[in-house]
Amino acid sequence: MASIHIAAKVGEISERVLLPGDPVRAKIIAQNFLEDVHQYTAIRNIFGFTGKYKGVPVSVQATGMGIPSISIYLHELIHVFGAKKLIRVGTCGGMNENIHLRDVLIAQGSSTDSSIVKQVFGGAVNFSLLADFELLSQAVEAAKNLNLPVKVGNVICTDLFYNDYDDANGTFGDGKNTFNDKLRAYGILAVEMESAALYLHAAAAKVQALAIFTVSDDLWRNERCTISERESSFNDMIKIALETVIC
Ligand code: HPA
Repeated sequence: MASIHIAAKVGEISERVLLPGDPVRAKIIAQNFLEDVHQYTAIRNIFGFTGKYKGVPVSVQATGMGIPSISIYLHELIHVFGAKKLIRVGTCGGMNENIHLRDVLIAQGSSTDSSIVKQVFGGAVNFSLLADFELLSQAVEAAKNLNLPVKVGNVICTDLFYNDYDDANGTFGDGKNTFNDKLRAYGILAVEMESAALYLHAAAAKVQALAIFTVSDDLWRNERCTISERESSFNDMIKIALETVIC
């Protein structure tokens, strides 16, 4: 099978891959956390690097934003390059009062308004999109060892970054709650745009996947990290992801 979007040779990408959306963050992770770094792709400026973390080969592949974009990179990583442990390291928008800017969250499950589950199961099953339990346990353990607090729970993976889900006209079902109120009432911690694809494709391919996020936007208090904070202030999450991916 050919790789159209990743310009690497088979063997250049590790089985262990971190997946930031942003190519700049991929570069920052590779430069700041890995040794013996080698860049294997720059197609569309979506960068990919392989290096070593504590002596173990680890790759960092940017995915772009949203389910269609990450799905392309996941397919090639898994089916062409043999990726087996995939950890998304992304940002999310906190949706609850107890979630704050720069908190680290782990998606135990991913709910979605995307049609990808329907495309696979034809509407017959609302397939549960779950983190790999071993990776999830290892990440929680790694966070504990690093003395870094994490919150674990369900997230909403949405197709629309800009939406009216928190506006009065974004009502859901009974016409009283906004879409986001309904999600909050059911314990959704945060919103992001890629985890559903990660968990679905990983399940289909029987590989391990986990999504970890830093809260860059607070939809509850209407606060956002600055653009430079988005690019650079996510070290806690990266440490947890790297300690997990080398297990
Ligand atoms: N919405 C969706 N995805 C996101 C957000 C958001 O506010 N912040 C980071 N990823």
